[in-house]
Amino acid sequence: MADLRTTRAGGMGTDYLIRHVTLRQLQIMDTIVRLGSFTRAAEELFLTQPTVSLQMKKLAEAVGAPLFQTLGRTIEPTDAGREVHAACQSILRSLSNLEIRLADLKGLRCGRLRVGIITTATYVAPELLGAFSRRYPGIDISLNVTNRDQLSERLAAHDDDLYVMGQQNELGNEIDVIPFAPNPLVMVARSDHPLAGERQIPLSALAQEPLIIREPGSGVRDAILEHFATAGIQPQIRMQLGSSETIKQAILGGLGISALSVHSLRLECSGGRFALLDIAGFPIRRRWHLVYSKSRELSLVARTFLEFAVASEPEIRAQVIEALAAFEQVRQQRLNYSLQDAHPPC
Ligand code: PGA
Repeated sequence: MADLRTTRAGGMGTDYLIRHVTLRQLQIMDTIVRLGSFTRAAEELFLTQPTVSLQMKKLAEAVGAPLFQTLGRTIEPTDAGREVHAACQSILRSLSNLEIRLADLKGLRCGRLRVGIITTATYVAPELLGAFSRRYPGIDISLNVTNRDQLSERLAAHDDDLYVMGQQNELGNEIDVIPFAPNPLVMVARSDHPLAGERQIPLSALAQEPLIIREPGSGVRDAILEHFATAGIQPQIRMQLGSSETIKQAILGGLGISALSVHSLRLECSGGRFALLDIAGFPIRRRWHLVYSKSRELSLVARTFLEFAVASEPEIRAQVIEALAAFEQVRQQRLNYSLQDAHPPC
């Protein structure tokens, strides 16, 4: 007769899964379902693909049913896989909350802070984290930088404690959102561009300009394309690139113009290499938001960082104003020079 304590799940033994399933397997299962791929899960967890497959085979044996099915080129959890995944999520969330409560008992002397940011915030977040880390040197900080779509995935998967995100239209009620610093988008050209010294240029004047845009999934890309679409103008997209820094180099290389966050140009605002074009409707007014999931407890460390970030907002806002004013000053100088050329002083 079979020993009931060692029958597979679904039998009568209640501790079978406790003895045969590991937390690591649950984490792998959760990651595969979230990313829809064994390969991507292996990459994210720094495991080899055979390890991931083997662990899922063991989990399926313990559960006594296949966990995944292949549909065309995608994999999906089976009904049993969905049940297991729901359990994974609740177990992993409890453990993560436990970790937070235990860290809170130790106060701010040590702990972990995981921050996920949108690429445009790269120009602000490291400075903020640096200042925070000088005040609380015992805290381990990790920073993840991605575009809007990938950051939304991280938020849905509770990968980080806090997020700096762009516009918040689609994220639903499961998050708390605190409006943060301004993130205006400006139209940027190389400083010798013929439109660089012009005033109040209509958007239609850009219809024939080669435009460089960010990759699909980027919030900046969508904002700029929407701006053109609203005006009924079809932009001439010359190329798409995956980062603001590469776009800046492409502009300097004479490949085209682009809309970028003012933050990405702060260090170059008085250098004279870039010009902000005075296009109707620009700067496009956007702002960042501090976002966290309601279903996950905010650790003492994360709460303290949130307050720290909010307190730093006026300084970040002042940097934006200063950068725009510096660009304006360069434009004015350029205008004065060209007027002098046209009417040289006697
Ligand atoms: P992203 O940033 O283009 O990297 O998605 C969007 C934003 O700053 O709102």
